[in-house]
Amino acid sequence: MRRKLVVGNWKMNGSIAKNKALLDNVISGVQHLRDSDYVVCVPYPYLAQVQSLAQGSNVAWGAQNLCANENAALTGAVSPHMLVDYGCSYVIVGHSERRMQSHETDDTAAARFNAAVSGGLTPIFCMGESKEERESDWTEYVVGRQLDSILRRFGADMVAKAVLAYEPLWAVGTDNPATPEQAQQVHKFIRNRIARCDKVVAKNVRILYGGSIQPANAAALFAMPDIDGGLVGRCSLDAKAFVDICRAADQYAIAA
Ligand code: PGA
Repeated sequence: MRRKLVVGNWKMNGSIAKNKALLDNVISGVQHLRDSDYVVCVPYPYLAQVQSLAQGSNVAWGAQNLCANENAALTGAVSPHMLVDYGCSYVIVGHSERRMQSHETDDTAAARFNAAVSGGLTPIFCMGESKEERESDWTEYVVGRQLDSILRRFGADMVAKAVLAYEPLWAVGTDNPATPEQAQQVHKFIRNRIARCDKVVAKNVRILYGGSIQPANAAALFAMPDIDGGLVGRCSLDAKAFVDICRAADQYAIAA
C-alpha cells in the first residue's frame, strides 16, 4: 500500500523570520492529518532552523540537492552525511532547474541518487520532458531515459528506496499544470517500466506529480491511481495553500 506524500520545494526562498511563520502554520495545519506524509525541502542554511521547528511534528524535512562525494576538497559542496546530521530524511535529486541551469546530466543525477541512498537519505528523483519534447511525442523516450539512468544502473532494489517525481518542464513554475489524465499516463508508463524489472517494487514505489499543483487541482491529480502525491513549488510558500494540498492528499490516503 502506498501512502500519499506531499513535498514542499521551497527553492531559493525564505528568511529566518518568514520560515518560522510559514512552518509554524504548516505544522499546526497538518498536525491532525494522519494518513499521508508531509515534507518540506528547504535551502541548506535553514536546515538547522527547520530541524528545530519541525522536530516532533508530523512534518519531515530535507534538502534540494547534495554532492555525490562524502568528504572531499570541494568548495561549496554539501555531502550526504551533513544532511543526515541535520535530521534530513529526503533530498531532491535531478530537479529540472538543476538539469537546465546547473549542468546536471543523467550521469551526475544518478551519482547523487546513489550517494543519497548510500548515505541513508530518500532521494526524490525528478524526471520530465520539455514542451518541445512533448510536442514531438518524445515524452516516453525522455522520461524512460531518465528513469533508466537509475533503474538500469542501480537496479530496482535501489529504486525501491527512492521516491520518483514526474515534473513536466512545461508545467513547472507556469500556470499550466498537466491534466490529471496527462500525468496519470506518464506515471503509468513509469510504473510499467519498473514492473519489467520488478513487479513488487513497481507496485510499492511512490511517484509524485509536480508542476503548478494548487489547492484547486490537487484532489483531481491525487485521485489518479498512479499519482501518489505531489512535489509542490510556489504553493509550498503559502501555508494555507500547502495545508489544503496536504488535506487533498489525505482524502485519497491509500492507493490500492
Ligand atoms: P511549481 O514548482 O509548483 O511552482 O510549479 C514545482 C517544482 O518545481 O517542484
